[in-house]
Amino acid sequence: MRLLFLDQTGKSGGAELCLLDVATAYQNLCLVGLFEDGDFRQRLEERKIPVQVLAEKAIAVRKSSGAIAGLFSLSQLLPLITRVANLSRQYDAIYANTQKALVVGASASFLSRRSLVYHLHDILSPDHFSQINRRLAVLMANRAKLVIANSQASRAAFIEAGGNPELVEVVYNGFEPDQYAAEIDVSELQSSLGLEGRFVVGHFSRLSPWKGQHVLLEALQYCDQTVSAIFVGDALFGEQEYVEQLQQQVERLGLHDRVKFLGFRTDVIPLMKLCKVVAHTSIAAEPFGRVIVESMLCGKPTIAAKAGAAPELIDHDVTGWLTLPDDSKELATTIEHCRQFPTEASKVAAVAQQQARQKFQLAETNAQIHQHLHSRLAKSFR
Ligand code: UDP
Ligand code: GLC
Repeated sequence: MRLLFLDQTGKSGGAELCLLDVATAYQNLCLVGLFEDGDFRQRLEERKIPVQVLAEKAIAVRKSSGAIAGLFSLSQLLPLITRVANLSRQYDAIYANTQKALVVGASASFLSRRSLVYHLHDILSPDHFSQINRRLAVLMANRAKLVIANSQASRAAFIEAGGNPELVEVVYNGFEPDQYAAEIDVSELQSSLGLEGRFVVGHFSRLSPWKGQHVLLEALQYCDQTVSAIFVGDALFGEQEYVEQLQQQVERLGLHDRVKFLGFRTDVIPLMKLCKVVAHTSIAAEPFGRVIVESMLCGKPTIAAKAGAAPELIDHDVTGWLTLPDDSKELATTIEHCRQFPTEASKVAAVAQQQARQKFQLAETNAQIHQHLHSRLAKSFR
């Protein structure tokens, strides 16, 4: 089956890292069309996946935008839709990987009479999307032959927003567990970051208010002085104001000796390996949360905010810990628990690593997607 994948961004967020793996399985039979250029294009090229940047300028609509912003962007959208419709005639289906890709892909699929697939990486709730954007997403997605939801939580929110339940199949993101399991000597990395002797809590997420970096900063003040935090990730989608707020918070709480912002890194695995604990602190429901699984695969004690898909990934007290979103005191207590009872924390992490190896295999993810595409789109093959 020949697939035209579409993604709105050129940046490597979780949805794009997932697409990288999905598209690899269709390397010789696909094209990835991006609506803006960026490091994601290079990653695709490194994997020898055909890629084209289709839009002259990134599309201006934001998740929270209302109808007016939507109308203003029509002049940008129409040429893109026409281009995608023409391109799609060489493919069996359009596979939209993000919400703006869905809007363009659904319209183009209508013009070119190609099947539409939507990989849903979002929770379509008011926390994340304006009402008009939720309605638009559901209207377009209900035109698809298949909606692949990245978790039960994303599936439930889609249906709650009016999505057709019959279209949805849940497929978790997949990983190559051996890449995470290998023992790595991190002493050099640790000393280069000045973290020797510290109890390091890692936070691996783009800097964005809903990812809740501020909750971990707040928690640090209730933790032992030996506890430090590293924040790995950048403000990928222009959240500069939040970055400034975080810096002010560090100043206000007098935490500069205990906190490091490392920006976007490609060496996530070694950085995770040097952590004693990984904390996920989203204050809004997380659609999936790749970092939670990556931490478990690295064999690290993992604490995640109990919302969205996190309870599907972590069994509380068995494979990690779930704390209330935006509750810095509970987070601090759980970090302290891991610090004071390291043997118990390591046991939990070992069980998590074992389970995650089985539950989040990339080969299984790819097989499921392949099977769903074939069974739902069979009639449209040429
Ligand atoms: N990541 C990365 N470098 C960074 C920060 C994050 O490569 O500096 C990766 C991280 O390992 C994970 C992805 O980005 O695979 C983020 O995906 P997740 O699902 O956790 O969150 P998203 O940002 O997609 O909401
Ligand atoms: C999105 C979601 C994230 C998920 C990723 C991969 O970026 O925000 O929770 O893990 O897609 O499905």
